[in-house]
Order: sequence, then C-alpha cells, then structure tokens
Amino acid sequence: MSLMNGKNILLGVSGGVGAFKACELLRLFLKAGSGVRVIMTESATKFVTPLSFQSLGAEAVSYDMFAEKRDTLEHVSWADWGEILVIAPATANIIGKLANGIADEALSTQAIAFDGNILLAPAMNVKMYNNKTVRKNIEYLNSIGVNFIGPETGQLASMITAAGRMSEPELVFKRTRQLLLNRSSLRGKKVIVTAGPTVEPIDPVRSISNYSSGKMGYALADAAAGFGADVNLISGPVHLDVPPSVKIINVKTAEEMLSAVRKECAGADLLYMAAAVADYRPSVFHRQKIKREKDSMRLDLRANPDILKSLGRNRPKVAIGFALETENIKARAIEKLKEKNLDFIVANNPTEKGVGFGSDFNKVALYGKKGFNLILEKAEKFDIAVKIIEESIKLLNKRGSKRKKQN
Ligand SMILES: Cc1cc2nc3c(=O)[nH]c(=O)nc-3n(C[C@H](O)[C@H](O)[C@H](O)COP(=O)(O)O)c2cc1C
Repeated sequence: MSLMNGKNILLGVSGGVGAFKACELLRLFLKAGSGVRVIMTESATKFVTPLSFQSLGAEAVSYDMFAEKRDTLEHVSWADWGEILVIAPATANIIGKLANGIADEALSTQAIAFDGNILLAPAMNVKMYNNKTVRKNIEYLNSIGVNFIGPETGQLASMITAAGRMSEPELVFKRTRQLLLNRSSLRGKKVIVTAGPTVEPIDPVRSISNYSSGKMGYALADAAAGFGADVNLISGPVHLDVPPSVKIINVKTAEEMLSAVRKECAGADLLYMAAAVADYRPSVFHRQKIKREKDSMRLDLRANPDILKSLGRNRPKVAIGFALETENIKARAIEKLKEKNLDFIVANNPTEKGVGFGSDFNKVALYGKKGFNLILEKAEKFDIAVKIIEESIKLLNKRGSKRKKQN
C-alpha cells in the first residue's frame, strides 16, 4: 500500500499568484489516497475560490474562522487531525506571521496550533524575497525545524527570470512524502545511490547504452533523504528531476561512475548500486565519426571495471546491489550476491509487464545471506524503495550493535 494512502494532510494556501498551483498539489495528494483539508487565507480566496478546492475533492475548506459553523473549535482542531501542514504557496506575509507567532486569520491560527512537520513553499517577487526581514524570517523558521522547498529561479509573474517562483507541485508533493517518513532512522548517515544507465561513446556521435530510466535509483535517493540521510546520488544521463534534499553528481561513462563512487563512498554507511552500468565499452574511441563503408562492421569491446570490487577499504558498511535478469532470476541474483559480497541483492525482471524499466512501478525480490528472501509485490517505486531501505536499516543497526558489543 502507498505510503501516502490514508494520510491526513492540511494544505494551507496563502495569497500569491502561485495559488493556482495549490489545486494541482491537492490533486496529487488525493490521487495518492491522502485525505486533504484546505485552509485558505482571505487573500488566497481572491486568487482561487474555496469552491475550486471543494470541487477537486478536498474533504473540507476553511477560510473564515469566525463564520457560523458546527464546530466552534475548528480554528484549532484541524491541527490535531493533520499529520503534516503544507503551505503552498507561502507568501512573505504568512512567513512573517509564522516567524513571529501571529495568529490573526484561519491559516496562521491553525499553523500556530499545529505541532507536527510544517513544509513551506515560498513564492514571491524577487525583491520581496531578497528583503532582509523576509530572509531573516526564513532563516529563523529554518532554525526551529520548519521545512522549506524552493523558491526556484524561473520566470516570475513580472516576466523577469529570478528567484521567487514556487516549486512545481510534483516537487512539493515529493518533499511532503519524504517528510512523512521517520527522519531519525538515518539521521547523520551518509547514503550513496547510483542510478540510470552509463553511456559508452563509440565516436563523437554514437554510443552504447541501455534502457535504464533511473527511476528506481531516484526513488531510493528520495526515500533515503526522507529517512533523514545525507544522500549523494550518482546518476548516469536520465530525464528525471533530482529529488528534494538530494545532492546530485552527474556522470556519463562507467569509468566516470567508478571514480565518483570511489570518491563519495569514503565514510559512507550505505550504498545502493541501482545503476545499470554497461558491462562493456568500445575498446577504442574514434575521434572522428566512423563512416559507413561496408555492409557490416565489427566493434571491439572491453569489460568495464567492477565498481564494487574496486572500492576496497572505502566500501560502505552495508552494500546493496541490483540484479536485472531475464531468466533464472533467483539463481543469477544469488550468484551475484556472493560474487560481489553484497549484503543483499534486489532482483527484478525487465520483461515483466507494467513494472521495471521506465515504469513508475516495480515488483522485486530481495535475497540476502543465510537464505534471507523477501518478495515485494507490485507497488510504486518509491514505496518499494522505502521497504528496501527499511531492510537495510535493520542490517545497519545489527552491524552497529555488533560493533558496540565488541568494543
Ligand atoms: C496580484 C497580486 C499578486 C501577489 N503575489 C504575491 C506573491 O506571489 N507572493 C507574496 O508573498 N505576496 C504576493 N502578493 C501580496 C499578498 O497578496 C499580500 O501580502 C497579502 O497580504 C498576503 O496575505 P496572506 O499571506 O494572508 O495570504 C500579491 C498581491 C497581489 C495584488
């Protein structure tokens, strides 16, 4: 079942041009199975109407705490119902109120009564965003544990390109999903994830690669950040947004991936090798485009280095590999597990319909030492990633407690 399913989300909307984006954000939450109550400031109602959110399927919309209603404690009781409060867009004004304990309308009042995770997606004109008091308020809220996403640099309502644009709803959704995980599970831990394909050049215009979309690796990085880890994502060329709170390191070839993994793995706790690293690369790189001359041609390939084997002392405490096989999946996965001395391996089959390569879903089997195995039925890659990480946290904790006993 999806992590977002059945979650209670309070969606705050304040009065900025980006208010229309809150409609899309609501839709994403609802699609994921969450229950959403919307709280609007009076200014927000000038940009979008409460009816917009009601029609889209919000459980309830609050915007006037003095209106006649059944529940006279509604101005604070929703704060008990919500598991997270997301204010998107967050105006300079609402940020200022939250930083100074002002509760003078429905949203700021609920926010002050709310003691769970708060996520703010600021959106404002660049001059407002650069205002020293606004910056001071953001810094202060940051220092007391309020979470922020954005603002991004992009085209603002004033048509200039500058910082101040609200992060896209998809990104705000992903950050919310991260914040619903237990952040203390991997706090202070360094996690390395590899993702995507590698691209091995033949000549300036041609290459060898594979169909890896990178989605499984990105989901792992996304979930690991949600569990509170410092995540470095080493990625081959893909068309995906970098998950919030994740540091990206872009590479192309297997050799580039190898040197990035070597460098990043120093002091790392967990490594997820989800990238589809090309087994072979062309032996020679032709500096000029190879001309078509004959009916056939031969390409000489040589094996790429084995990244895990070359890690030596920099190998993280727990290393998880991935096996993509089209036949004898279990046997081959277990062979790879042993050969590479992995802690466990995640096996999947790219030919299965509706899961795997390119899909947002996956169905995998985990194999580990001493006959450990766990089948994870078809689910969104993010939810699969959460389960994989939970299993690796168990291993990491076991290692930690063993070490403590030895000391
Ligand atoms: C057309 C228009 C667009 C605005 N856009 C923004 C905005 O994007 N961000 C912002 O902080 N304020 C913006 N404002 C100013 C806020 O609406 C104003 O500060 C208001 O008091 C905010 O109230 P609230 O925080 O209670 O929603 C805009 C005002 C107008 C008239």
